[in-house]
Amino acid sequence: MPSKIVIFDTTLRDGEQSPGASMTNTEKLALAQQLAHLNVDVIEAGFPYSSPEDFDSVSRIAQEVKGPTICGLARTKAEDIEACANAVKHAEKHRVHTFVGTSRLHLEKKLRKSADEVLRMAVEMVKYACTLVEDVEFSAEDAMRTDLPYLRDVVEATIEAGARTINIPDTVGYTTPWVMEETIRYLFENVPNINQAVISVHNHDDLGLSVANSLAAIRAGARQVECTINGMGERAGNASLEEIVMALRTRSDQFDAYTDIKTEEILKTSKMVSSFTGFPVQPNKAIVGQNAFRHEAGIHQHGVIMDRATYEIMKPEDVGWGETVLTLGPRSGKHGVRKRLEDLGYDVADDQIDDIYKRFIEMADKKKQIYDEDLEIIMREATTESVDTWVLESLQVTSGSSTMPTATVQLRKEEELFQDAAVGNGPVDAAYKAIERITGVQVTLEDYSIRAVTRGGDAFGEATIHVARNGDRAVGRAASTDVVQASAAAYLNAINRLLIRSGLNGKHDTP
Ligand code: KIV
Ligand code: ZN
Repeated sequence: MPSKIVIFDTTLRDGEQSPGASMTNTEKLALAQQLAHLNVDVIEAGFPYSSPEDFDSVSRIAQEVKGPTICGLARTKAEDIEACANAVKHAEKHRVHTFVGTSRLHLEKKLRKSADEVLRMAVEMVKYACTLVEDVEFSAEDAMRTDLPYLRDVVEATIEAGARTINIPDTVGYTTPWVMEETIRYLFENVPNINQAVISVHNHDDLGLSVANSLAAIRAGARQVECTINGMGERAGNASLEEIVMALRTRSDQFDAYTDIKTEEILKTSKMVSSFTGFPVQPNKAIVGQNAFRHEAGIHQHGVIMDRATYEIMKPEDVGWGETVLTLGPRSGKHGVRKRLEDLGYDVADDQIDDIYKRFIEMADKKKQIYDEDLEIIMREATTESVDTWVLESLQVTSGSSTMPTATVQLRKEEELFQDAAVGNGPVDAAYKAIERITGVQVTLEDYSIRAVTRGGDAFGEATIHVARNGDRAVGRAASTDVVQASAAAYLNAINRLLIRSGLNGKHDTP
């Protein structure tokens, strides 16, 4: 009988730890709702003790998202565990996930404690967590570089202490599939109470082996995998949810295991993560990359026309790729727009449709043909939290081979208008300098990219900007048919997000 694999999604915790990948709390909630539609079993929503903002986000998700178990991360410290239990307590099903490093390196260099001390601490804190919640998970951080007999003792003792799930992380992405398989088998053979817990793995992708290592662990008996959408995560990222799920499904001949993931929701979730974090998906990324189901070579195209199976091992529609259809134009009505959005999988609330339709008409005035990708931009902008302390009212630039690039910018803050002009290395730089002069906010531009997100000569360009200020980071995004306009609006969007985070706009809310 095939075994169910618990899909533990940590996009909102480990995924959000990707440098520069921060999301607002509203975006985190929207993503958690989408993860529930995807039908993941566990959502690791954050690390509540790490900041009041994270606490707030985890507790909102716990209150509002129905279906999956809502989990929070905690070090093996009483105050972490208490904050975590408090943040998740309103969820129908909730879990505290506590961890401590067990490799010699972690014991000696990071924790400066003996193996016995760490073992005692792990047991004590698992027992404490069990007094607060029923469902406790314990992770032996850096397990794959931990001495096996010690790992065995830690696993046995923490199960004895009450942990229902024991996670074996490859924290630094060091292991190989065969070592992973041997390690999990070793634990099954040498830990007497192992059947009282679910064995889990959590693999990082430093050597590009995280998915292979996760699948190897499943072959050896692991029944939970921790993973992220698009493989987001610390450094090179975590094992990608979509790759693990589709490998299990497509190669069911190799694995006596299944997941409950609604695979048709995968692409939508991937796009949401990419949009919220500003991390584009590489075109050749398995499952969700733009080219994952495209065939270029003539021989391949011919084969696919005769029978798709010649060059395709999965059906694109099974992971959410549909026919992208040219649907709507300037004369389309509200019902048509709503119907197409619903066909694309969006829930359009009654109180949203007027705003969405207004945006649609504005776009249709600029672009004659509205593609599905255009509708996705409209939805993204309509559902993105309003963070507009400063609003871009107008922008004029002059540039050319023999002129000094100059930008004149008009911004609005509440009811007041501000205007200034600046010169720069190019029109975008000039616009940024003018914005800086008006807002008085100086940031370091860490990354800037612009890409065509829709099709045709009048395609929308989406600018994504990563900025930093006093150690705080934010991503700004905006789309327009005019790339300078998109760049300026994205810059302002990033500044507005920084202001929200630092509380300078007076809207900051903490628990
Ligand atoms: O990579 C890791 O070891 C982790 C643990 C906290 C599970 O993220
Ligand atoms: Zn991790």
